[in-house]
Amino acid sequence: MNILHASFECYPVAKVGGLADVVGTLPSYQNTLEVNSTVIMPYYDNGFDTEIFDIIFKGSIKLDTSIHEYIIYSTHINKTRILCCYVKGLLDTSKVYGYEYDLYRYLIFQLVVLDFILNNNDFDVIHCHDHHTALIPFLINNSYAYSSLNKVSTVLTIHNAQYQGQFSHDFIKLLPEFDFTKVGLLDWYGNVNPLAAGIKCANAVTTVSPSYMSELINEANGLEGLLQSESYKCKGILNGIDVDFWNPSTDSMIFKNYKVSNVISGKKGNKKEVCAKYGLDVSKPLFGFIGRLVGEKAADLLPEAIRTILSSNLNINFLVLGSGQESIENDLIALKNEFPHNFNTHIGYDEKLSHWVYAASDFLLMPSRVEPCGLNQMYSLRYGTIPIVRRTGGLKDTVIDIGDGGFGICHDKASVWDIEYSVNRALALYENKELYRKIQKEIMKIDHSWTKSAQEYINLYKSITTS
Ligand code: ADP
Ligand code: GLC
Repeated sequence: MNILHASFECYPVAKVGGLADVVGTLPSYQNTLEVNSTVIMPYYDNGFDTEIFDIIFKGSIKLDTSIHEYIIYSTHINKTRILCCYVKGLLDTSKVYGYEYDLYRYLIFQLVVLDFILNNNDFDVIHCHDHHTALIPFLINNSYAYSSLNKVSTVLTIHNAQYQGQFSHDFIKLLPEFDFTKVGLLDWYGNVNPLAAGIKCANAVTTVSPSYMSELINEANGLEGLLQSESYKCKGILNGIDVDFWNPSTDSMIFKNYKVSNVISGKKGNKKEVCAKYGLDVSKPLFGFIGRLVGEKAADLLPEAIRTILSSNLNINFLVLGSGQESIENDLIALKNEFPHNFNTHIGYDEKLSHWVYAASDFLLMPSRVEPCGLNQMYSLRYGTIPIVRRTGGLKDTVIDIGDGGFGICHDKASVWDIEYSVNRALALYENKELYRKIQKEIMKIDHSWTKSAQEYINLYKSITTS
């Protein structure tokens, strides 16, 4: 069975968040099983080594009134074929998102994917990831140009229902001609809503953890009613992680490699280097945070929570890596001036530093308001770093509180008080060296590889394909 994963991000070609990690890993795991998975994504002019790509197809596509030439570049990364779609002026940007004309970029990408398949029709399933690719099922089912693809099945994975890609009906003219009696499939509350259209039209809909699937039925940024009515084809499948890449015993980005047997000295070696670089005291427990500085991650609570904690206890260090909302970035920078020996932050995206933080920290904070799955907590477990999470979405499915016989620290609310309370629980655990070290070793052994979930997706593909 041939699967085509369509996504705007895929590690290592282009990454903003967890979507890239998932699309960069799931297909490789699937390729060790009984299917043949390929990734198709936009081309980016972002410094990624494009020398390794070959041109395999050229075509042209009409968007609105213009004809755009496109080129499909191909390469293999790990075990997976990656196809990148180049369209001058639209799919050759340096950033993944953040352009005024993003709508045009999302549309042309989907049209290029469909045109490419039309000319190279050897795919049984198109696996669409997030709203950027969620119009594909509608277009296959209803647009005249792609009617011959009606044997191709579609899966839509919702990585985050907060982002739906809505646009005004005025832009419907950008879509290729389709059976207009079906226009209602595009609509949700008066706008064209690609994510909603994908949920309505895909043969199967998944999200990235079972708990997030249950939460979406009641709270999905306006899509809950739709998810209730389509629940017969919806399923939560927990993300995995690439356990070869995220492996403290071989990770070439960290200072000292370690495994379960030498986790104490290994983490200490990394902590020493990281603390020295960030002006922190290696003898104090280190709490890390990595992520987008946005409300979803409850990053807005961090400055006040950290200020409150440090105001009464200077025997702690915090290191925050992230970028996002300017006000949060500024609050964090201000905090650095207030507590120069206990707090530091790197505003920006830095893959290597993220590995340092996972390896060096004693605890990792994830107070997220919304967390469809979350990968950070799984990376943190792998590196022997105890996660402190809010019980939501995938965090609920992957972290069990020590009070319930588990290995993490969990709280129920996204509030300054809850973060403070959890940090104090973490400090008590840190003092109980025997228990702390036992948990550190245990968490490194938890298996969060993709093996089980990659097979679950394959079973799903089988259930929606006829041949
Ligand atoms: P989301 O996709 O919602 O941002 P995930 O937990 O699924 O959250 O994945 C986040 C991914 O992005 C992880 O690989 C994490 O290490 C990485 N990441 C987030 N922010 C940064 C940053 N500022 N620098 C480096 N890596 C980051
Ligand atoms: C989204 C979610 C995150 C999830 C990631 C990968 O960005 O916010 O929770 O882990 O997608 O599925």
